[in-house]
Amino acid sequence: MVMQTRKRLALVGYGKMGRLIEQLAPDYGFQVVLALDRAKNADTSAIDPDSFRDVDVAIEFSTPEAAPRNLLRLAALKVPAVTGTTGWLAHLPEVTAAVEKSDTGLVWSANFSVGVAIFRRLVSRAAELMRDQEEYGAWAWEIHHDAKKDAPSGTLLSLVRTMEETGYRRSIDVSSNRAGKHPGTHEIGFDSAADTITLRHVARSREGFARGALKSASWIAGRKGVYTFDDVLFG
Ligand SMILES: NC(=O)c1ccc[n+]([C@@H]2O[C@H](COP(=O)([O-])OP(=O)(O)OC[C@H]3O[C@@H](n4cnc5c(N)ncnc54)[C@H](OP(=O)(O)O)[C@@H]3O)[C@@H](O)[C@H]2O)c1
Repeated sequence: MVMQTRKRLALVGYGKMGRLIEQLAPDYGFQVVLALDRAKNADTSAIDPDSFRDVDVAIEFSTPEAAPRNLLRLAALKVPAVTGTTGWLAHLPEVTAAVEKSDTGLVWSANFSVGVAIFRRLVSRAAELMRDQEEYGAWAWEIHHDAKKDAPSGTLLSLVRTMEETGYRRSIDVSSNRAGKHPGTHEIGFDSAADTITLRHVARSREGFARGALKSASWIAGRKGVYTFDDVLFG
């Protein structure tokens, strides 16, 4: 009989996302061997060679302040990592350089939902079609639970970037709400005197994000380089 060994997973950040990922990890062949929160890892010193010796891959969902330091430490230890933390992307060049220097792997995404990845492609096509339709104005809006720290969300900002990358040059009015327990709604709209077009993605729970991060963790094990969730899904 062939014994299947579970891959060893470390969770860096053990809040709402970390705990949900722990619950779903066995579905992806992972065993959680380490979970670090702020109390254990305030200065990143818990990301040390001893604790991570047997770790195959780490999933990082922490805070915008902690994420870059956590990712630099994981890279230095050559631990392949997946991060879903938002609000830290100003540090992406530094983190990318560290991952490449250590010859290890990283997947980052402000949104690990498969539906959002497809939504982004629809938004891109809509912006391209609207590019030369001067009579339409555009907006980008999102709402999340009141504990979410960054606003606008990383996902909304990247949707706006996606629109701009198609050559859409007119202004896009960006706004956010933080209230209640919303897991996340993102909307892109176009409005003219004649009509309105609205594209909207509504997350029903956090489960889709957790499953996307676990799918990415399976994918990055053994790969080198810095990737996004789009690379995992669409190649
Ligand atoms: N990409 C996506 O699909 C996606 C989906 C959902 C959320 N997010 C983002 O993911 C991040 C976490 O979300 P969440 O809902 O899980 O937040 P959360 O419930 O507030 O959890 C954050 C966790 O990070 C821990 N932490 C803080 N500093 C740390 C450090 N230095 N080392 C290790 N852990 C540390 C906190 O520890 P304490 O509890 O001890 O303070 C807590 O366990 C946010 O940036 C959020 O916007 C992304």
